[in-house]
Parts: sequence; C-alpha cells; structure tokens
Amino acid sequence: MYKIAVLASGNGSNLEAILEAIESGRIQNARVTIVISDQEKAYALTRAQKHRIPSAVFRKAEYPSRESYDRALINYLQAKQIDLVVLAGFMRLVTPDFVAAFPNRIMNIHPSLLPAFPGRRGVADALAYGVKVTGCTVHFVDEGMDTGPIILQKALAVREDDTVASLQERIHRLEHVLYPKAIDLWVRGKIKIEGRRCYLEPEETGLA
Ligand code: GRF
Repeated sequence: MYKIAVLASGNGSNLEAILEAIESGRIQNARVTIVISDQEKAYALTRAQKHRIPSAVFRKAEYPSRESYDRALINYLQAKQIDLVVLAGFMRLVTPDFVAAFPNRIMNIHPSLLPAFPGRRGVADALAYGVKVTGCTVHFVDEGMDTGPIILQKALAVREDDTVASLQERIHRLEHVLYPKAIDLWVRGKIKIEGRRCYLEPEETGLA
C-alpha cells in the first residue's frame, strides 16, 4: 500500500477528487495518510478532517528560511514513510533538497498547458494572452517553477465570453479527472521516466 501525502494551501478541491478516487476504488493500493498545509485556515484541512485523514500545519513564520522549512517537512514526511508527495495548490516553491529527498516522487498540477504560462497566474495569463486553447498539466516536480517532466495534459477551448473565473472553473473540472488518473498510473508503475520525458503505455494514454 503506497502512502501519499497531499500538500495544499487552499480550497483543496483536487485533494477531494483524489480522496474520492481512492474511496471509490479508482485508485487502488494507495492511501492519503497525511494532508499538510502552510495555511491553518485552508479549507483543504477541513476536507481532510471530513475524510478522517490526519493533517498537519507547517507555518512559514516558524522557520527562518525556505531551506529550514523544507528540511522540517522532509523529516516529517520521511518519518511517515511517504512514498508519493502530491502538491495540490501548494503555493510554495520547494527547495532542491526537497526534490532530492523524493526523486520523481513529487507531483504537481498546474492550470495551463505547460510550458506555457507557468507560475501563480496560469489561468489569467493564458486568458490575457488570448490563447484559444488552454488546459492543465500534471508533472513531476524538479527544481524549477512548473518545469518537471510532464505526465498528463488535457486541453480545452477558451470561449469568447470566458472570464478568469469561468475558465478556471472548467480547468478545475479537468484537473479533478486528470490528477487522480496520473496518481493511479504512478501507483500501478505505468510511468517510465527518461530524461524529461515520461513514457506511458499506449493503452494508458487513450491513444492506442
Ligand atoms: C489548481 O488550479 C491547481 O492547478 C493549482 O492550484 C489550484 C488548486 O485548487 N496548482 P484546489 O485547492 O485543489 O481547489
């Protein structure tokens, strides 16, 4: 049974989608054993509680540096024997030490088709740029900002009357399908990484 830690700073709708996928058996052989937030008021923590999943808060203010924060987090996750770290709206850039502690075992979801529109304002930036197609990306985390090997992407069309909120809402719905799917692939050992490319078995990509 793989142990997953989900790190979330906000609403936690992706956390919810992952928990539902586990509870309904769409992801087997894995459990979310801890939810961690840097924000004590994060709704993600309430969601964890509702699903009876333990949670912990790591407050930024309690650590003198990003490095010491991540060191504490690494120790905590290692003590809990976490196999996979899932960033779900965790609004902190992790340090190289953190990446090295969990090589190819940290995933993130980003609300654009990377490498377009990385960073915190992915949806707004895509809309402002005027792209006709955007979407979301699940990727492994490396030292860069939204730069790691891509696992899955899904596209959607931008509508003429889209606002940041309406576009974000449709992207969220895509994310809730894509993230559990990527985690399931990882749990079943279906992702092979070479350099920055992730190879999935053809039947897993829907392209077979
Ligand atoms: C998602 O849009 C994700 O792409 C981004 O942060 C947002 C988190 O949303 N990294 P939620 O907290 O899972 O609802």
